[in-house]
Amino acid sequence: MKSHPIIYAILISALLGLVGCSSSPANQPQVNSDPVQRGKALFELSMIGENKAPGCVVCHSLESGKNLVGPSLAGIATYAQTAVPGMSAEAFLRQAILEPDKHLMEGYPAGVMYPNYGKDLAPEEIDALIAFMLTLK
Ligand code: HEC
Repeated sequence: MKSHPIIYAILISALLGLVGCSSSPANQPQVNSDPVQRGKALFELSMIGENKAPGCVVCHSLESGKNLVGPSLAGIATYAQTAVPGMSAEAFLRQAILEPDKHLMEGYPAGVMYPNYGKDLAPEEIDALIAFMLTLK
């Protein structure tokens, strides 16, 4: 019966191995592969990225009409569809994260939104944030 711990150890490392493999995009389990959920979780962090930049919730609420340092992002997906003629909602939201001063929300100044998310966040994290914002209709 001494072999049990060893068997458990093998089983556990096999499981960990499976979890480890999940970081390859082709092979993600359901929980991690939902970019909307990942994006929501990222959005809600008070610090984000490798330089501990202020997180989105520090400046943006998701409650309609509740403007903080930045505008409420309630309905941002709908706004993004027509904000810039000829630009898709997805492209608009990507630009909003990567180059925040390229397009300004009416009534808000340039130079306030953190400008370095493109350097601090992984491409998948930016994709996840966009996927989440596309649900805010
Ligand atoms: C330090 C405060 C601050 C933080 C942190 C911040 N924002 Fe902003 N954000 C602003 C301000 C101010 C505006 C309005 C000016 C503008 O449009 O760039 C804005 C505008 C936006 C817009 C509308 C863009 C447009 O062009 O009209 C989106 C979308 C957005 N932010 C998403 C995010 C996301 C996603 C994060 C987190 C990764 C984030 N913001 C973090 C302050 C912030």
